[in-house]
Amino acid sequence: VSSVEPLTPRSSRVKSARKLTRRAFRLSARRFLAEGPQAVREALARPGCADEVFATAEGQARHLDLYQHAAEAGVPWHLVDDAGLAVLVDTVSPQGVVAVCRFIDVPLADVLAASPRLVAVCAHLRDPGNAGSLIRSADAAGADAVILAGESVDPYNGKTVRSSVGSLFHLPVVFGVSVEEVVAGLHAAGVEVLAADGGGENLDDLIDRGDLQAPTGWLFGNEAWGLPAADTALADRVVGIPLYGAAESLNVSTAAAVCLYASARAQRSARR
Ligand SMILES: C[S@@+](CC[C@H](N)C(=O)[O-])C[C@H]1O[C@@H](n2cnc3c(N)ncnc32)[C@H](O)[C@@H]1O
Repeated sequence: VSSVEPLTPRSSRVKSARKLTRRAFRLSARRFLAEGPQAVREALARPGCADEVFATAEGQARHLDLYQHAAEAGVPWHLVDDAGLAVLVDTVSPQGVVAVCRFIDVPLADVLAASPRLVAVCAHLRDPGNAGSLIRSADAAGADAVILAGESVDPYNGKTVRSSVGSLFHLPVVFGVSVEEVVAGLHAAGVEVLAADGGGENLDDLIDRGDLQAPTGWLFGNEAWGLPAADTALADRVVGIPLYGAAESLNVSTAAAVCLYASARAQRSARR
């Protein structure tokens, strides 16, 4: 285990990694920060993904498996003091390890070429935590991809990475595409597009009629204003989750979990 002096916020290595907390720098460097042991483990497991790891002495002692994994993979491991780690993460109680990773998103064409059966499309999803939770739900439901379209947050925002709890590394993620091109691409690939909107036809009726077995792309809207009419107009159907209580709507990642699981169940029972 390394016994060198830990890097500080003034170290050039830390300063340069810190720039990746800003979207513009992430996009130009095509690199991002993956914070916490789970994300670092996933990054190290993916050859060529992690460039370097920063860890506090405590983080290193607690995650010796990661230290060994990095050494085996030839990924540089730097000890950093608490203040140095704090400038690389945006959590109040960081978990002591953070990796600089190369972008792992894929082109839309790759997703479409793989004959996807279940895709989550976010239209202008702005909240980083919601985006991470939605990626996690899509991963859990066995979706083939998540597409962050339009004005959506980038998948490499620190909060998005953290709230995906490793799922960002599990399934293909696309970003930097328009909703129009995504819907056109899904249609060309034989995927039905369903817009999730509270005012749409009742999801329970689709489930009861066995209408959810086809390859499906679900379109989810912005937290504050939902799906613009121009986006719902692109979809084949507009579908609403019934709200049995008094809630006005569901959080977008919760709505995504309900819709994606309904499709996953229908598709999987059709294949049995
Ligand atoms: C918090 S909601 C937006 C609420 C917004 N006030 C509106 O009028 O649509 C964010 C997204 O979650 C999904 N969503 C939330 N509740 C839903 C429901 N009951 N049925 C279908 N989708 C829902 C939709 O995709 C929606 O665009």
